Amino acid sequence: MENTVLGIDIGGTNTKGAIVDLTTGKLVSEKIKIPTPPGATPEGVSQVVKEIVETLGYNGTKLGVGFPSIIRNGICCSNSNISQKWNGIDLNTHFSEVLGMHALCINDADAAGIAESHYGNANEQLGTVILLTIGTGIGSALFYNGVLIPNTEFGRLHFKNGILEQYASNKTRKDLELSMDAWANRLNEVLLHIEFIFSPDLLILGGGISQQLESYQDLLMTDTKIIPAGFRNNAGIVGAAQFVSQNL
Ligand code: BGC
Repeated sequence: MENTVLGIDIGGTNTKGAIVDLTTGKLVSEKIKIPTPPGATPEGVSQVVKEIVETLGYNGTKLGVGFPSIIRNGICCSNSNISQKWNGIDLNTHFSEVLGMHALCINDADAAGIAESHYGNANEQLGTVILLTIGTGIGSALFYNGVLIPNTEFGRLHFKNGILEQYASNKTRKDLELSMDAWANRLNEVLLHIEFIFSPDLLILGGGISQQLESYQDLLMTDTKIIPAGFRNNAGIVGAAQFVSQNL
């Protein structure tokens, strides 16, 4: 298929992939979702990514991978929700070798931000845009006038005597069996803090829980407008595909 590329989104809980139409940002294949193996080791994750490529029968020459860590010059530099064994691995070389095609990796939240900025809800939005992906962890993407400032890691900020993502991620909501309101109050504290520091013009929420934004939006007290990611839970896939098409 012309002008299509495979996008993969590796998460702490699930790994997803689909072929993306680069003109529209729409998925043009089935979306394959496989649980990320416990511990998220290089071996386990690579096997799952390989399975997604094979299941889709993808025969392109390149793919984009959204990966849940800091990535500097292709190197994995952090490991909050994945195995420590990833530290120091050149992700682009690793996935290219595993899959036998050119792979380009980008932080998963940055990928989601690219999808929104290129095709979605932040398209043509000037000023400061912050996207937060709320899942196993909390990822962040920061844009100024459409330009991405990569690897921001707001989820790793120290907050309330702990780490911000451990206070308000969707995993924490489930682990602590928080009611939706109790969790949304935590998210509100997080968003007010981020708003105070960055004075954004737009806040976008991604990750599965963003699909239910209407049910808790009334509890979010920022002055900044908050919207759900237009690509919902597919933003990471779409952005990873867009990123590889622009950079490889
Ligand atoms: C990681 C980030 C990632 C986020 C969402 C955090 O724990 O440090 O790199 O973007 O989770 O997956």
